[in-house]
Parts: sequence; structure tokens; C-alpha cells
Amino acid sequence: MNDEIAAYLSEDHDRLDALLRRCVLPSGGIDADVYHAFRQGLLRHIGIEERILIPALRTPAGGTLQETIERIRLDHSAIAALLVPVPSAGIIAALTAILTGHNDLEERDGGFYERADAYDAEAATGMMDRIRSAPEVRALPNNPDPAVLAATRRALERAGYDAAQYF
Ligand SMILES: [Fe+2]
Ligand SMILES: [Fe+2]
Repeated sequence: MNDEIAAYLSEDHDRLDALLRRCVLPSGGIDADVYHAFRQGLLRHIGIEERILIPALRTPAGGTLQETIERIRLDHSAIAALLVPVPSAGIIAALTAILTGHNDLEERDGGFYERADAYDAEAATGMMDRIRSAPEVRALPNNPDPAVLAATRRALERAGYDAAQYF
């Protein structure tokens, strides 16, 4: 069962990575339709991890898995913050960099996706069905307020990333 969850979410990473690569046009502008599909898909993906996977872990998960989960949650806050301002090439570069490390942390052997032994057996029942039927997230439009960009920078810094490198 854990293999099925790992495969589903890893394939979703690949699908979202492909969309992200197509977001920046040769002119340097952003393809609004591709970005929209990426943003909706990523918000749904993070929702699955935060609302289905993490709560199903035995509490306390303990040890290195607990540290991994804390790291994953910090990344999710930074990633979600990057989806709020109007996208730019710099925002896309930051998303690409953070997601590369983040997806590896989730997919690696013995990592977050594969730790079926850490999932509570009762909670795990029907988990794949809940993941498949997870709804789209209703997101607000991107916000052009410069204060939003400043808040996004702070969210990245809280998660240990250097925002100034990207935008
Ligand atoms: Fe994640
Ligand atoms: Fe993920």
C-alpha cells in the first residue's frame, strides 16, 4: 500500500516539475495557463501531504522521521508563500530550487513516502482512496501588493532559504 502512495505522489512530483519547467516563456514572461495548472496541482499535492499523510503518522513519530516532517512542513510554508504573489522568473527559480530538495527528501529510500510502518494501521485504511479523491484547492488570485512579496521573502527566510538570491 505504501508503494502505491509513494508511486502516486512521486508521479505527481514529475507532472508538477514538468509544468514548472514550462512556466517561463523564452521572452522571460510567465505562461499564465501553465502557471495556474501548476499552482492548483501543487496546492492539492501539499494538502494531501498535510491533511492525509502527516496526521496518519503514529504520534509521536519520533527520531529522524520527526525531524524530516518538521523540515517538510517548513518547506510547505515557504512553497505556499511563493504561490501568493504575482509570479515572476525569480519566483519560479525559487520554487524550482526549493522543490528539487524537497521532493528528494520525500521520495528518497526510507523517506517520508515509504515509511508505511510509521502510519497508523487504522488511519492507513482507505488512505489511497482519500488521496485519489482529494479535491482541488480553491485559491485566491495572485496578489500584486509589494507587501505580499515582502511577506513571501520572510517566509523563505524562516524556512532557511535566501530569498534575495531569487527575487
Ligand atoms: Fe511536500
Ligand atoms: Fe510531495
